[in-house]
Parts: sequence; C-alpha cells; structure tokens
Amino acid sequence: MNHGRWSQRVEKIQPFYVMEVINAVKRLEAQGRHIVRLEVGEPDFPTPPPVLAAAHRSLAQDQTRYTAAMGVMELRQAVADWYLRQYRVSVDPSRVVITPGTSGAFLLAFGILLDWGDRVAISDPGYPCYPNMIRLLGGQPVAVAVGPEEHYQLSPESLRPALEQGLKGALITSPSNPTGTLIPDAALEQVIAMVEQEGGRVISDEIYHGITYERRARSALEFSQEVIIINGFSKFFAMTGWRLGWMIVPPSALRHVESLQQNLFISAPTLSQYAALAAFECEDWLRQQIQVFDHNRLYLVAALRDLGFLIPVMPTGAFYVYADASRVLARTGHVDTLTFCHDLLERSGVAVTPGLDFGHHQAGTHLRFSFATTTENVREGISRLGEFLRAALPQDTS
Ligand SMILES: Cc1ncc(COP(=O)(O)O)c(C=O)c1O
Repeated sequence: MNHGRWSQRVEKIQPFYVMEVINAVKRLEAQGRHIVRLEVGEPDFPTPPPVLAAAHRSLAQDQTRYTAAMGVMELRQAVADWYLRQYRVSVDPSRVVITPGTSGAFLLAFGILLDWGDRVAISDPGYPCYPNMIRLLGGQPVAVAVGPEEHYQLSPESLRPALEQGLKGALITSPSNPTGTLIPDAALEQVIAMVEQEGGRVISDEIYHGITYERRARSALEFSQEVIIINGFSKFFAMTGWRLGWMIVPPSALRHVESLQQNLFISAPTLSQYAALAAFECEDWLRQQIQVFDHNRLYLVAALRDLGFLIPVMPTGAFYVYADASRVLARTGHVDTLTFCHDLLERSGVAVTPGLDFGHHQAGTHLRFSFATTTENVREGISRLGEFLRAALPQDTS
C-alpha cells in the first residue's frame, strides 16, 4: 500500500551526530562501562531550590490551566526588571513574550519574519537547529564561515557579501555554541547597524548570557530596539527540562507573535512559568555554581593544548571548548573527528561532540568539549584522552 511521502521540507532536516554518540553512550553504560560525558549541552547543577519550592506552591494552588498566550504578566514584568538590572535597558513588559523554551521562541521569530525563500545569515560553525528551523519555515539559511580571527562570530567583514545579496535577517549567538566565544562589542554594534540599514533584522540568541567568565555579554537590546532578543531559563538558570524561554520583540511584532503563539502553542507551560518567578532571586547561588565551570574551563583549555589540540581563541562564555584537532588527527590517522569521536568513545569511554554537528566550515577537523560537569569528570576525561592518544600514536622506535 502506498501511504504517500513525508514532506520534502522535513526530509532535508538533519539529525544530530551527537545523538549517535548518546545512543552509543547508553549502549556502553548498559554493558556496565563508565563513560565520561563531555558531550552534554546542559548545566549539571540542579534546578535552584527556590524555583522548586515555587513549583510546589503552584501545584498546591492547582495552577494548571492555560495562561494568557504571551505569558503570566508577573513573569513578563520580572524579565523586564532583569533587563533593567543586568543591562540598564528599560523594556516595557508588554514586549516580553514567554515561550516554550528558546526553541519555541525561534519558531515564533522565524515564523513572524520569513516569507518563502527569505535569507537569514548564520555563523558556521553554529547551533545546528537554526538552519533546520529556517528551512522548515520556508526560509533559506546563509552560512557565513567564521574563524578565530573574528572570535567565530559574524563580523561586519564576513557578513558583507551575504548582505549585498539581500538578507531578511542575521542571527547572532554570543556566547556561541559550539565555540564559547563572545562577539566583540564593536562588532555587535556594527553588525546590527549594517543589517538594519539594509532593511533586515537581527535575531540575538542570548541563551548563554550569565555564563561568562572574563567580561559580561552585552545584549543586542543595548544597541537597538528593533532586534528580536531570544533568551530563556535553560542554561544560566539550569532549567532545561522546564521548557521555558522568552523573547523581547519590537512593538510592531506583538500582534503577530501573539497570534502565532496562540496557534502553535496556546501558551508556555503554566507550572514552569510560576516556578520561574523565583528564578531571578537565585542569581548569587547560580553564579557560585558557575565558578566551578570557570575552573574547569581554564584546566580543560590548558590540558587540551598540551595534548596537541589548537584552541586559538580562549572561550569566555557558555561551557564549551571548540578545539581544532587537525594536528592530532594527522598523528592518529583518523580521517575526521567523526571517526575519532567514535573510537575515543568505544576504546576509552569518553564522549565528545564531532564538529560536523555545527556546520561545514572545517567541521571535520573540530571537536566540541563541554565542561558543564564536575572538575573530577573533566580531569578523568583528559586522563583517558591522553591515554587514548598515546595508544593511538605510532610507537617511537628511536
Ligand atoms: C545556542 C542555543 N540556543 C538555543 C538552545 C535551546 O535552548 P532551549 O532549551 O531554551 O530550547 C540551545 C540548546 O543547547 C543552544 O545551545
């Protein structure tokens, strides 16, 4: 029987290679192997206790119905207050939209922005869901190859050719996944000005704000009120499973976001919204947790460099190191980091993410290491990686 084909759009959507890594991790763990997991993309510390307490109170009051499409007003106000405290930017709470994760916010943002074939610039390497969501909504992702000289971020120079061919939008992720690098303030300001001058719009994914080590990240909202800000509770607030994010949109977008949210999601999860009201009180507690990541970061970068990986730009945000493994591959004989990852996991029990998950530009020679875990785990991972490399290298016969 012919049941018909699935949509051509969905056929173009790529699964993540890291899912294969995670499946292999599960298989090996089921066999009793201990795996050091440096592939994960979420903080390992628990939901802040006051958030859990607020969730219990909310359940006791049976706050389990839909909320307004744009979100609970107190939470929208709390987000607006956060922008005043963190960035000294005054935001009318009516411009804050509470969404089901930043992932939900992206569907809304691309949904209100894109017509068929509209082009959106994204950095390569970059977060893999962007091109997939852009394609799903009929847009065209335009990958801009970025390297260490521009901190792996869009820059006025790298963006210009794409802009000259017309762009509906440009996406900035600072700090970046997978590189952990921040866009320099001047570049952020210039990129926003260039894109807006050509009639496009900047979408700024600020999900890793708060997880920065040497300097704070500036919000795109400090430079323009026409940008779309995307942020949420998953990373700094350590609430990945609560599926809660927010966007801040220009007033002209409000009516469209509201009707799209009604149609796609009705509202963000109610329990999570009431729980998140307590999240903004936990800043000091969260910053303490993040100090462990900073320690891990300094150790991991130094240790990887000692093992022959190139890390030309120090990551100063998020919890990732994006390492160039070309010198290591030349010595171990692996054709790319995909096969390297596979062998490292099977032989030494260390899970890392291959660069191919993050685009095409030099992806086969890069690896992403996550240090959102205990220092003990990071040290154990490095020790096993060192052993793996020594075993894989041709023996020195001199
Ligand atoms: C850059 C970036 N944006 C967005 C997300 C999605 O986050 P959320 O849990 O809020 O959907 C992630 C998750 O890893 C990410 O790395």
